[in-house]
Amino acid sequence: MPAAGRGERLGPGAPKALRELGGVPLLVHAVRALARSRAVGLVVVAAPADGVAEVVGLLDSHGLDGKDVRVVAGGATRQESVRLGLAAIPSEVEIVLVHDAARPLVPVEVVDAVAAAVRAGAEAVVPAVPLADTVKRVEPNPGLPEPVLDTPDRATLRAVQTPQGFRRETLAEVHARALAEEARGGLPPVTDDAGLVERFGGRVVVVPGHEEAFKVTRPLDLVLAEAVLARRRASDGY
Ligand code: C5P
Repeated sequence: MPAAGRGERLGPGAPKALRELGGVPLLVHAVRALARSRAVGLVVVAAPADGVAEVVGLLDSHGLDGKDVRVVAGGATRQESVRLGLAAIPSEVEIVLVHDAARPLVPVEVVDAVAAAVRAGAEAVVPAVPLADTVKRVEPNPGLPEPVLDTPDRATLRAVQTPQGFRRETLAEVHARALAEEARGGLPPVTDDAGLVERFGGRVVVVPGHEEAFKVTRPLDLVLAEAVLARRRASDGY
């Protein structure tokens, strides 16, 4: 679980993973959401490098369904945080899910479905949902009107979420290749792990995601997350 981001788009304050939702840090929600799945045996958290002890303390003070949880120092990019987390997973583990700490409310059904699809033979699996908005590609020109290049057919687009699931070998290999290319001054970091598999010619498949697996990025997302959590607590003692 990469959890080392600053969360600058959320406004000033603590690192995003430590912001609270219903009185509990986002990170703790996200770890619990994974731990709820019977497919998950170990959760490795990549914490902000200067916040490892704090994250260990937080996780110790919240119940986590008896699952094994380890904390490592994350990196300067999400990609580096994932690579560092992956290195801390015992070698016998064959299936790895990568989940953003910033998606605290992912339903267990999504976690189970991703793990099951990898078990069934896929090398890389992403949960995704159709888009509500029409999407346009533009020539980025921040602060000024941006020329539109084209409009992809919305029916072929999906917004991808996490957890993304992988054969461990595949994920380790694409991260190692990306690191080697970076050292040669090559390609920019990707924003999701499946993107690395695609970059190196692997096959990625999509399974249904869930609207409640949204990423807490901007202030409004926290308002929505509070509402979802309140509804769950009222209806099923979540
Ligand atoms: O920035 P973004 O919202 O895409 O971050 C997605 C996830 O990656 C978050 O859970 C964030 O904590 C994590 N991340 C990280 N290390 C970084 C940057 C982001 O673990 N250096």
